[in-house]
Amino acid sequence: MAEHLEIANGTKAERYALLTRQIEAVVAGENDLIARMANVASMIHHTFGFWWTGFYRVEGNELILGPFQGPLACTRIAFGRGVCGTAWREKRTIVVPDVEQFEGHIACSSASRSEIVVPIWRDREIIAVLDIDSCDLATFDAVDQEWLERIAEILSH
Ligand code: SME
Repeated sequence: MAEHLEIANGTKAERYALLTRQIEAVVAGENDLIARMANVASMIHHTFGFWWTGFYRVEGNELILGPFQGPLACTRIAFGRGVCGTAWREKRTIVVPDVEQFEGHIACSSASRSEIVVPIWRDREIIAVLDIDSCDLATFDAVDQEWLERIAEILSH
């Protein structure tokens, strides 16, 4: 209970620091990647109250929907398509302050205004992406990027 209060009241970096410790503990007890993704999506989502938080897994030449929290989402995204496919192709995190300004953005929900997509690496290959959507503009910045990249690393190792 005290930890939840701390999460609710701290700065964004403090909330990520505590969340990351909790994720480390949860991941240490489970090797299965899908099970890990399911709990990590839930923990991120409910810590910050994002609109949509989830994973797309690399399968051949497309991304396929994995564990997520939030409303219904599109199930398959081709390499290079949308923010997710672009993060995969460019092998980097993409922060989108305003989805209407990102050409090719795939609108799974019209409520989504800003987005971050973080590649998940294993053995020098991208095996999935973490995608988070917010109903507000410019929700994500360098603090989110730094911590979410750390969480992505913990998840896949
Ligand atoms: N907006 C993403 C698609 C996935 S949904 O947001 C859950 C994109 O452009 O890749």
